[in-house]
Amino acid sequence: MLVAIDGPVGAGKSTVARAVAAHLGFTYLDTGAMYRCVALAAIEDEAADLKRSASDLKIEFEGDRVMLDHSDATEAIRTPEVSQRASLVATDTTVREALVERQRLMTQRGDWVAEGRDIGTVVRPDAELKVFLTASDDERAERRAAQTGRSVAEELADLRERDERDRTREASPLRRADDAVEVDTTGVAFAQVVERIAALVADVQGRTA
Ligand code: DC
Repeated sequence: MLVAIDGPVGAGKSTVARAVAAHLGFTYLDTGAMYRCVALAAIEDEAADLKRSASDLKIEFEGDRVMLDHSDATEAIRTPEVSQRASLVATDTTVREALVERQRLMTQRGDWVAEGRDIGTVVRPDAELKVFLTASDDERAERRAAQTGRSVAEELADLRERDERDRTREASPLRRADDAVEVDTTGVAFAQVVERIAALVADVQGRTA
């Protein structure tokens, strides 16, 4: 089974998807980390071929760690510079095609909670459950600021710029799949969001049993 969790920056996708996966015993896939790895490789070598990076870079998830060509890149891919660059490389069609292909292969077998921008629309439109997570701009900026230590105003400006790029790009723009369940996390404790999604999964499992 595949649970697709999509939504904009700071809606809580990572925290929620990780917790839902742990709760259900499913494997968690952070597709944004893959775009971030391609961005980091581009920053480290401006001459790097983006398409080749997307198809050939060795990206492995080991528990909570993200390994890029056998080196731990978990922290390096979370800097504001990499965030901005990732949303840029994500507009490249050849990068998207290569990463989408890898994501399809990875999630072909077993039970997954995959999180990103286009899981329910492009990567796996056949997902048994699609969730579109949202939250108000202010709350998203506050959550990001608590994670990064930057000001709420800086985070707000940053996320609006990235949202705009993610929503308006030609290749697989961020949008809610028609059959996705929208879950607004504004003012809602994460534990409650996780419970809600677990209940949706139980519904699907009940229907398909
Ligand atoms: O979720 P994140 O912030 O780690 O994602 C980093 C960037 O990658 C973000 O700007 C959007 C892009 N992305 C994407 O286009 N498609 C995905 N499935 C996941 C992320």
